[in-house]
Amino acid sequence: MGKKETVWHYFVLSVWENRWHVQYERDGCYQIGDKKMKLYEKVAKGLRESMEAGLFIAGDKLPSIRQLVIEHSVSISTVQQAYHQLEMEALIEARPKSGYFVSQRSVLPAQPETSRPAQRPIDVSQWQEVLELLLSKAGDDSVQLQHAMPNMSAPTLKPLLKKMTELMRHQVALSLPYGDIKGSLVLREQLAKLALNSGCSLHPDDLVVTSGCQEGLSVCLRAVTEPGDIVAVESPSFYGSMQAIKTANLKAMEIPTHSEHGLSLEALELALEQWPIKAILVTPTCNNPMGYTMPEEAKKRLYQLAQSYDICIIEDDIYGDISYQSPRPKTIKSFDEDGRVLLCSSFSKTVAPGIRVGWIAPGRYRDKVTHIKYVSSSMCPLLPQLAVADFIKSGGYHRHSRRVRLLYKQGRDHLVQSIKEHFPDDTRISFPQGGYILWVELNKKIDTVKLATQCKAGGVSIAAGPLFSATGKYRSCMRLNFSEQTEIEREKGIRQLAVYINQQIQLIK
Ligand SMILES: Cc1ncc(COP(=O)(O)O)c(C=O)c1O
Repeated sequence: MGKKETVWHYFVLSVWENRWHVQYERDGCYQIGDKKMKLYEKVAKGLRESMEAGLFIAGDKLPSIRQLVIEHSVSISTVQQAYHQLEMEALIEARPKSGYFVSQRSVLPAQPETSRPAQRPIDVSQWQEVLELLLSKAGDDSVQLQHAMPNMSAPTLKPLLKKMTELMRHQVALSLPYGDIKGSLVLREQLAKLALNSGCSLHPDDLVVTSGCQEGLSVCLRAVTEPGDIVAVESPSFYGSMQAIKTANLKAMEIPTHSEHGLSLEALELALEQWPIKAILVTPTCNNPMGYTMPEEAKKRLYQLAQSYDICIIEDDIYGDISYQSPRPKTIKSFDEDGRVLLCSSFSKTVAPGIRVGWIAPGRYRDKVTHIKYVSSSMCPLLPQLAVADFIKSGGYHRHSRRVRLLYKQGRDHLVQSIKEHFPDDTRISFPQGGYILWVELNKKIDTVKLATQCKAGGVSIAAGPLFSATGKYRSCMRLNFSEQTEIEREKGIRQLAVYINQQIQLIK
């Protein structure tokens, strides 16, 4: 075994031994010992330890900023930064006009273990399984925990529907001719304004409209790679991006990923040293399927890694606007100095997937992306673009995002509680920082592919873990959605699932 291989092997072994946290701390992303700690980190550490010791429990109000300023002899901004840090870790939450409170996070079941994907570039399989999922429709009276579909019954969507109807009635002729292949300028202007919220300064000419994010990912992969190239991805990862890798005849290098901090930068660096990786495809904000948001520092370091290996990043930000954090987290694109980040997104997860409005901010690959997008599907239908542009401009999109974000956060807390109550004690779950999906890791002996078939017959649908691996790993894991159901439906679904899980456990014994 060569030196690099030994290091990579050592890392993966250490992940197996569940020592990833230690590695991460040594990385310098988090605290590296008191000496290098900033003041706000010390304050945050003190509060974290008080919570761990049970001095503050879920729901408790934390000391006011003023109290902490006096107690620690520090400035207001230091305390604010400390609270912001704990908010990012989802340990606390701010309530308007009431202060900071300990969040549910402190009483959660254990987190999923850091993933242990293959240690070499691999061909993606799983298309039949993905196809089955895409074709499967939940029955009317079944509980749908399977598809990552937004809540589309919120009243805040009404202005969009009204605009769509109005356009269809009075301006349908607009939809007949060919339009701009880069997308409607009216929409691109609104998208450029929207990008400011994630720290990006973009001009409408920097954007290309696509038919959803799936097309964006596929176009970007083709723009930056040649068949046979290797693309690094998080593991587990969204099955659609892996199928895009497959159809572009690329290989996937799955990188160990932690359910709270995301992609392991140390593992990525080792992989970059060892393999000629061409691009990194990541969903660093409200990830699918885990729900994590990579800390801003880690996003910056990921960008710097891409710079030092001179490769590009395809950033999928499809859930970014429904982060529970306010203001929403920055994108990696916001740190992009040399155009190597291609940002892809759409309104499929924030508004509705059927409108098929997505976009790419392709950086220095703009001309190539425009060419491939043209070859892929020419231009996108105009009316949905105009309706969405109007929704953003009139403030409707912001009102809708604010409303559903709250709904999703409540949904997460409810689902977490239900799982805690009904699933076996050794269940591990992720704690999403946005969006409406979470990752469940069951006892290694449980088979979620079987479970999916069993519970479908029993009126509950789930997405089995292997869909999120290039080669069918994660057989004891599943992804659950918490966007649409009422609490009663969700509770019913989780109880039903627990019955099937327990049946499998009985059979194993
Ligand atoms: C992370 C992620 N990226 C991209 C997509 C595809 O989005 P769209 O429906 O806009 O093509 C999805 C859909 O599930 C997704 O979860």
